[in-house]
Amino acid sequence: MTTIFAPPTADAIPITFATKSSWETEKAALSATARRFAESNGFSAKPGQYLALPGPDGALAQVLFGLEEATAPAHDPFRPGQLPGLLPEGVYRFANAPYDGRLAVLAFALGSYRFARYRKADQPKARLVPPDGIDAAEMTRISDAATLARNLINTPANDMGPEDLAAAAAALAERYGAAFSNIVGDDLRAKNFPLIHAVGQASQRAPRLIDLTWGDPAHPKVTLVGKGVCFDTGGLDLKPSGSMLLMKKDMGGAANVLALAQMVMDAGLKVRLRVLIPAVENAVAGNAFRPLDVLPSRKGPTVEIGNTDAEGRLVLADALALADEDKPDLLIDLGTLTGAARVALGPDLPPFYTNDDGLADDLSRSAREENDPLWRLPLWPAYDKWLDSKVADINNAPSNGFAGSITCALFLQRFVEPTTRWLHVDIYGWTPTAKPGRPEGGECQAARAIYQLLSRRYG
Ligand code: BES
Ligand code: MN
Ligand code: ZN
Repeated sequence: MTTIFAPPTADAIPITFATKSSWETEKAALSATARRFAESNGFSAKPGQYLALPGPDGALAQVLFGLEEATAPAHDPFRPGQLPGLLPEGVYRFANAPYDGRLAVLAFALGSYRFARYRKADQPKARLVPPDGIDAAEMTRISDAATLARNLINTPANDMGPEDLAAAAAALAERYGAAFSNIVGDDLRAKNFPLIHAVGQASQRAPRLIDLTWGDPAHPKVTLVGKGVCFDTGGLDLKPSGSMLLMKKDMGGAANVLALAQMVMDAGLKVRLRVLIPAVENAVAGNAFRPLDVLPSRKGPTVEIGNTDAEGRLVLADALALADEDKPDLLIDLGTLTGAARVALGPDLPPFYTNDDGLADDLSRSAREENDPLWRLPLWPAYDKWLDSKVADINNAPSNGFAGSITCALFLQRFVEPTTRWLHVDIYGWTPTAKPGRPEGGECQAARAIYQLLSRRYG
């Protein structure tokens, strides 16, 4: 539970937002002393500029904070997310409204996060009295979910193996009264999940399929599938060290479906929720799966392994096939699937794919409104033949190297019934350099946008 929000109190310190153009007006409202202090400190409301104003007794009396103009094309609605890192301990309130008050409050909460598992982090101690009209419980729900996703991703692979990921899912299930089950190791083969087993078989830490179910069975069924590759060495097609470095984050899809599930359950949305996480470690050992191996799949098509580093789509294929078996109303998968997605759109703008145009439009809007950006790319049918194999029904890694995120989506599409309403998001799950409201490290991506979409449809 976050303690970022404080109950209203008369002595909350006001934070005044200003842009270059509103600064003159804001300045005129200050006392003569405060105005002189701001001027002599060179405050001009540059974006991110911060100034603490003393009262007559020298105590902190007011805070000034600069924002981009609302009309600036690159204005960051999360700019106030810098404040927790700047403010001394205390209780604050917004004296005026930044351009989007709701996103400013959310940014304040998201910007207060620090990863503190292994050492005492300099946890921000500023608390905020939410402005009138802001649903603080909802803001808490969202920022707590982001904390869950970030903590799971930031935890290194030695402490976040398949079993640890299962424990996190079990704890979530316990908290919200969801059913939890888990198919582990050789049972995966016995119960027909050959691809999940093959990818995970080389690790000392057994692969598993996590399965969580919650809600009234009479409600529409929403199934979330998350890529839970706890570490991706690339397998025998080993990654070079630079590319392997960040691969503790390869369970970012799993972390984000758990964050999304937490929001859905906490809000009590009218859905029958199912969460499936194939949790594996893509390791190197004598019993690892190999390039040009041909493997069966749960759905049926035989899969030729063009590259053992294209493992995410393999484990998702079996999980998607299972998800489809009970005909969900909406099937959503999230995963850190391709470097090509990052090359195409960068770390902050994950591509998404869907066979439902109405869903695409609604999601684009939710993504914009939540400042959780997503961009639709096509399931381009003409590229589907690049998945052809000379010996099997499909190859997991086209050799031409073109449109890697699209061909991955097309691969997954082969394992989903054409009639299923399906959404796939190729996330990055990581903030490479800190930005307002987004500390460096694991990131909650796509979950907030999808939560808004689900709230609208099933709230
Ligand atoms: N986990 C990686 C994708 C990835 C890499 C995401 C870097 C974010 C940053 C995935 O398993 C992978 O290795 N994909 C390959 C696929 C290729 C072999 C067809 C890739 O993108 O290079
Ligand atoms: Mn890989
Ligand atoms: Zn991977």
